[in-house]
Amino acid sequence: MIVPMADLKAQHQEIEAEVHSAVLEVLKSGRYVLGEYVQQLENRIAQFSGARFGIGVASGTDAILLSLVACDIGPGDEVITTPFTFVATVEVMALRGARPAFVDIDPCTYNLDHRQVEKKLTSRTKAILPVDLYGQMAARKPLIQIAQQYNLRLIADSAQAIGAKQNGLGIGEYGDVATLSFYPTKNLGGCGDGGMILTHNEEIEQRTRLYRNHGSGGKYSYSKIGYCSRLDEIQAAILLAKMKLIERWNEQRQKNANRYRQLLAGSRVELPYCAHENYHTYHQFTIRHSRRDELQEFLRQNGVSSAVYYPHPLHLEEAYRYLGYKPGDFPESERAAKEVLSLPIHPELTEEQIAYVTEMIFKFERRNDNQGSIHSDK
Ligand SMILES: Cc1ncc(COP(=O)(O)O)c(C=O)c1O
Repeated sequence: MIVPMADLKAQHQEIEAEVHSAVLEVLKSGRYVLGEYVQQLENRIAQFSGARFGIGVASGTDAILLSLVACDIGPGDEVITTPFTFVATVEVMALRGARPAFVDIDPCTYNLDHRQVEKKLTSRTKAILPVDLYGQMAARKPLIQIAQQYNLRLIADSAQAIGAKQNGLGIGEYGDVATLSFYPTKNLGGCGDGGMILTHNEEIEQRTRLYRNHGSGGKYSYSKIGYCSRLDEIQAAILLAKMKLIERWNEQRQKNANRYRQLLAGSRVELPYCAHENYHTYHQFTIRHSRRDELQEFLRQNGVSSAVYYPHPLHLEEAYRYLGYKPGDFPESERAAKEVLSLPIHPELTEEQIAYVTEMIFKFERRNDNQGSIHSDK
């Protein structure tokens, strides 16, 4: 049996008619960038996430970049974040001339360990930037407390967490900013790139709108040196059509996760931890295994795709060596990079496929047990 990590063709088939008519509408409208569909999408996602404003931009990466710009974070500033994330989180800080100041992760949630944040603050710290990895929100309350106490911004990279909640509140209800990515494989993915900034803060809203469009407040007048980071109408129309299904898709991911949990009970796999206050959207269903690479290879040989998010903690990557970190500085991130494995969890997954994946995991464990007993017999 073949089990892919994502099945975008199957997803498209489900909504084909609606997406086609939305795209045709845009084509006929003659307005292709930052128009009515973008505005509708901004309102829809802001409301869905509990934010006052949504500002559509060209990618999830730009959503973080422009949030930093809007919060005036630049050369000489430090931003507290995690080294166990997609590179975009950290790259944009460096591009702004700010210094990523890493804090290790909580080994259960893989998110920024808030207990370690305070001791990493310096007089240059301007913001805390947690990442809601795999679709589960990083603990907000303790981070908001620290941010308020030290007058810092709280900007969440929620690229993987559309629809996630904590204590019943959405990603847009906490902190200064939350950012989203609409990369095609995300829980809400476009047919190309896109992203969004969510905020309650009117000043941040106005500044990001200005900066996303060359710093231009009116026709050919520029109050700021800006960027070119606009969301296009075709993406917005497609995403609006998909927004009708996002809750159902997230629920299906939860059902798939529960099924994995039932079927994997009794295996040696460490299952994902979901904090009781969180609604996890399972962008990824990420297990841990001490023989991760062998397990991944065994699954691959048996038709099951899986992925490692992420194999290298960023503090050890060549591009970020200038920050001066060394192996051992963030032990939980380093251990996670060696042990995590994300299994297929997308909403189009069938019962049979889930059963097959788990069967292959048990088969792998039995094979290892047998090899172990052969060795111990010698
Ligand atoms: C945690 C995280 N941050 C940022 C991004 C960047 O988003 P994009 O690819 O839309 O620029 C991604 C997406 O891959 C992500 O997973």
